[in-house]
Amino acid sequence: MEATMSDLIMAIDQGTTSSRAILFNLNGDVQFSAQEEFRQIFPKNGWVEHDPEDIWNTTLSVCKEVLSQVDVSRVRGIGITNQRETTIVWDKETGEPVCNAIVWQDRRTSDFCQRQKKDGIEAIVTRKTGLLMDPYFSGSKLRWILKHVSGAREKAEKGQLLFGTVDSFLLWRLTNGTVHATDATNASRTLMFNISTQQWDPELLQLFGVPESMLPEVRDSADNFGTTDAQWFDAEIPIAGIAGDQHAALFGQACFEPGMVKSTYGTGCFMMVNTGDSPLKSTNKLLTTVGYRLNGKTTYALEGSIFMAGATMQWLRDGIGLLKHASESSSMAEEIGQQQSVYLVPAFTGLGAPYWNPDARGAIVGMTRDTGPSAIVTAGLQSVGYQTRDLIEAMKRDGVPALKGIRVDGGMVVNDWAMQFMSDIVNHQVDRPAVTETTAMGVAFLAGLQLGLYESIADIQHIWQLEKTFEPSMSTMTAEKLYIGWQRAVRGVEVVSG
Ligand code: G3P
Repeated sequence: MEATMSDLIMAIDQGTTSSRAILFNLNGDVQFSAQEEFRQIFPKNGWVEHDPEDIWNTTLSVCKEVLSQVDVSRVRGIGITNQRETTIVWDKETGEPVCNAIVWQDRRTSDFCQRQKKDGIEAIVTRKTGLLMDPYFSGSKLRWILKHVSGAREKAEKGQLLFGTVDSFLLWRLTNGTVHATDATNASRTLMFNISTQQWDPELLQLFGVPESMLPEVRDSADNFGTTDAQWFDAEIPIAGIAGDQHAALFGQACFEPGMVKSTYGTGCFMMVNTGDSPLKSTNKLLTTVGYRLNGKTTYALEGSIFMAGATMQWLRDGIGLLKHASESSSMAEEIGQQQSVYLVPAFTGLGAPYWNPDARGAIVGMTRDTGPSAIVTAGLQSVGYQTRDLIEAMKRDGVPALKGIRVDGGMVVNDWAMQFMSDIVNHQVDRPAVTETTAMGVAFLAGLQLGLYESIADIQHIWQLEKTFEPSMSTMTAEKLYIGWQRAVRGVEVVSG
């Protein structure tokens, strides 16, 4: 069927705190969207869970809400993007989850991961998966469920249980239990998937004690994932794209060439650089991952994540009340200027890439008698730029081929002052696109490709539009002096936390 002007694609964006559905036209314009937050469950210190039924019900409800706005026959397909690594196990017959979903933030398997590290297992795991032996990923979470949920191991051995990341669980429910699959990006975050062979890895399955029968089939990111069962939306809509949220954003930002970077500033920041058709191994604690997989061809990426970006501004506003609204930060920073010597290291929950120091804690250093709220707020904004530079430096040390400009998205990027400072301190062009819904748009593009609504990724490249470019304008000497100050502040924090 030919693409027409009235065609729509629905993106499901199942995130950590909310489920969203967005209807896009083929130009990537948002037509309708709906969002519902759901419960965060914290049963113990360091544990984070979601009820899979909350995930399912909110997803279904937002989909129904946007679909009620249009004639459903216009919706040519669905793409699913999702919070990654979060682990769900359910009964193959009844569809009932055996326990709550263990969320990516959950640290309950730290001890197991530490033991594996001590035993020298991490090198094997990293070589095969590109990841680190860390509780963040699905493998140790799945092991925990099989070990601690009563009867789970026996049932799993008998082939009665299924495992999936959130995409896989939603797909299984939407197709009424007929399709148990995932895509290569989501599989690449499980710690059980060999990113070179693109297969589940028997040695890793053994390490986590996982029967192969539990695992979803791994397909391309643009693929035929079946159709929705008519009971949900009164229509059988093809599901044609799946990708983990950060990978979908890479695609939505049209980062199709090696060296192209996308950086998403939400609570934290996830940066990904396209590294082309072979996996680039990091020696700087960045993660090697599948960027996307099309027609059986894998494009790889390197990823670095920092824990505190927008959340630092939230803390400045809600935690210590230095501003009423995040938008005030720009005028406060204008007043202070870029060249101040106060540094805020937002290591509230440890430091992410490239440090990976879970014990580090936050600090404000370099204060003088005249330091006031504006200087501290400015330091908060600057911390995002400095951390971005940390990631870019690590990518360069890892030998990423010629880094191109950084394409940004996420809530924080509306702040022009922060974007200009980032460009100055990183000494790279920072590009802000016209549509910043890049995650949902990315998976809509993937579905559209599969459905033949776009001929090739060149079509998508043309749709991506720039809103504003920030060019570096600070002298290199000044930028270096400021960055050295940041590095000293981080070192101080690491020393204090031992
Ligand atoms: O790796 C976790 C990430 O995919 C979660 O993203 O946007 O749901 O916080 P988000």
